[in-house]
Amino acid sequence: TAPLRIGIAGLGTVGAGVVRILQTHRDLVAARAGRPIEIVAVSARDRGRDRGVPLDAYAWEADPVALARRPDLDVFVELMGGHEGAAKDAIEAALTQGRDVVTANKALLAHHGQAFARTAEASGRVLRFEAAVAGGIPVIKALTEGLAGNQMTRVMGVMNGTCNYILTRMESAGLPYSEVFEEARALGYLEADPRLDVDGIDAGHKLSLLAAIAFGTQVAFDAVELEGIGSVTIEDIRHAADMGFRIKLLGVAQMTGRGLEQRMQPCLVPATSPLGQLQGGTNMVVLEGDAVGQVVLRGPGAGAGPTASAVLSDLVDIARGNRLPTFGQPAATLRQARPAKAAVP
Ligand code: HSE
Repeated sequence: TAPLRIGIAGLGTVGAGVVRILQTHRDLVAARAGRPIEIVAVSARDRGRDRGVPLDAYAWEADPVALARRPDLDVFVELMGGHEGAAKDAIEAALTQGRDVVTANKALLAHHGQAFARTAEASGRVLRFEAAVAGGIPVIKALTEGLAGNQMTRVMGVMNGTCNYILTRMESAGLPYSEVFEEARALGYLEADPRLDVDGIDAGHKLSLLAAIAFGTQVAFDAVELEGIGSVTIEDIRHAADMGFRIKLLGVAQMTGRGLEQRMQPCLVPATSPLGQLQGGTNMVVLEGDAVGQVVLRGPGAGAGPTASAVLSDLVDIARGNRLPTFGQPAATLRQARPAKAAVP
């Protein structure tokens, strides 16, 4: 059978991770996909840099939009990042010119995912983004496939590993927020703009995508009630611990009588619950459906291997011929409720 021909824009840690998996697990991936997945061309800013993977076999495009337009591609894989500019232009070009798209770009999707979904539908293309939410945890496939028989009642999760690292470390080392923030910076955990992490914006992007899929609504990042971790003190953490709780930056999306409620804020969670036991830079997603009850998924939310693992799941999904949209066109535009404050899940 004909190979699935892909082009990868962005060869940072994730892009190189995808190349590595496709090179090392070639036969395994082909068996699961029903046909080989072949890299045709790549694009990145600096051609000379050593990325630890051989790239000589692939065509090189300096411009990601030119890559997206190549007629010899089936799928354009966007791993550049950035929520305006080149990544957005390239995805639009790909979708309108006959390429399916796989991206890990949560910020871009939170802002433009609905528009991309319309473009994709109009041109008969698919848009996949498993890697954009909770990294290596296959949460989107869990919702669209594994839990397909459920009316979802609530989705929640810790979806920013950096914030979870900071809160865990404040607790275990008894260090103030400002000091642990600097530690996280030195370790390279923070996004280029650290406010995306600590203000809850990055986790809010992910929650808005998850909520849209779980409840069949439009992506409504602007309706997420956002509060970051910058004002959490050591005293807050100690008082919580005294009462048997831990503080987590928790996102919750649930359907209420007033509409869809989405909030991302520091929450008290019982120390003995799965969420309360989550340590360090890990992610956890809790999915609640009317038939299944509660499903808890835990795993790495970032990093080359985990994120590339999620990108591969999208490539295999497309190679197998799944043409169904991840975001359907919402049956109705649901009212977005302002969440009630300070609920403990
Ligand atoms: N800054 C994100 C995190 C990276 O810490 O979880 C993965 O999206």
